Amino acid sequence: MEHIAVLTSGGDAPGMNAAIRAVVRTAIHEGIRVSAVYRGYQGLIDGDIEEMGPRNVANIIQRGGTILKTARCPAFFEAEGRRVAATNLSKRGIEGLIVIGGDGSFRGAHLLGEEQGVPVIGIPGTIDNDIYGTDVTIGFNTAINIALDALDRLRDTAASHDRLFLIEVMGRESGHIALYVGVAGGAEAILVPEHDTRAEHVINVILNAQKRGKTSSVIVVAEGAYQGGALELQNKIQPHCTYEVRTSILGHIQRGGSPSTRDRVLASRLGYVAVKSLLTRRAGVMVGADQRGTTHVPFIEIWNNIKVLDEELFDIASVLAI
Ligand code: ADP
Ligand code: F6P
Ligand code: MG
Repeated sequence: MEHIAVLTSGGDAPGMNAAIRAVVRTAIHEGIRVSAVYRGYQGLIDGDIEEMGPRNVANIIQRGGTILKTARCPAFFEAEGRRVAATNLSKRGIEGLIVIGGDGSFRGAHLLGEEQGVPVIGIPGTIDNDIYGTDVTIGFNTAINIALDALDRLRDTAASHDRLFLIEVMGRESGHIALYVGVAGGAEAILVPEHDTRAEHVINVILNAQKRGKTSSVIVVAEGAYQGGALELQNKIQPHCTYEVRTSILGHIQRGGSPSTRDRVLASRLGYVAVKSLLTRRAGVMVGADQRGTTHVPFIEIWNNIKVLDEELFDIASVLAI
């Protein structure tokens, strides 16, 4: 392989830039050309592709977001879109592609490989940490640090006013962020999309906590945990408790800002490994990391398996909230 390309796709995540930098510089170190594709699969279809040098990725390791921009691209769901994308790569002599994104981006990557024969390697970049085959995804550590910092602040005001705070964190379909932030922040309860969340249960938790002498509490709610979100849950529980209830929705703040040390190291490692793997023709896989080191997971295994939540942490959180 003499020329590869890199793109970012799906929701952005802090550390994507560090991964782009690692891909570009590793490729150049290996003596091959490397191009950047702008706006994910949309740029692949539009031919928005530019060759990169080592200086093009200077001073980005500490920056959040993605300098390549990202997009959700409906046309890539169609075989014709993927055909055009492959043509745009081959026209430029690009023989392999590295996709930094989430599970949806990997589905697209898999089809590009299967239908068009383009060798693709995935790098997991999403704050949700909901990707099977890797202990952590790029952006997760930064996101939980941001959310935890917010929770700590909200706890101060909750305690001062004897209030209950519902803190809504990101995670439309997964509760990894909520779980970690909830345990680390000493939450009274942690609500996630993977569990069946009933307002009655939350009311019981609060009333019991008050009986045990608590005068304020925080509850962490993943955005997908309750129909209508934390605000709707607030409406349901307020009439039943003597606390004043307040809701704080952290939203996209969790997705921005400078990546943490862990995310920069992870991104640097995975960017490096992705290029090395592509050059040895190990395609159709995502590179990830577990306790033993680097992992290579075939794309199809990612959506045929679910990254389960660490259920023990829920028990730990409730015991420690006594
Ligand atoms: P993420 O990668 O963060 O999960 P999305 O699910 O939004 O984000 O996917 C990003 C893009 O990947 C989509 O906009 C689309 O272009 C492409 N994609 C997602 N799923 C598929 C699919 N099943 N087939 C083809 N392309 C897909
Ligand atoms: O990046 C993942 C995620 O943060 C989900 O938790 C969330 O539901 C989604 O992105 C929202 O992203 P957007 O507003 O870009 O659609
Ligand atoms: Mg996704």
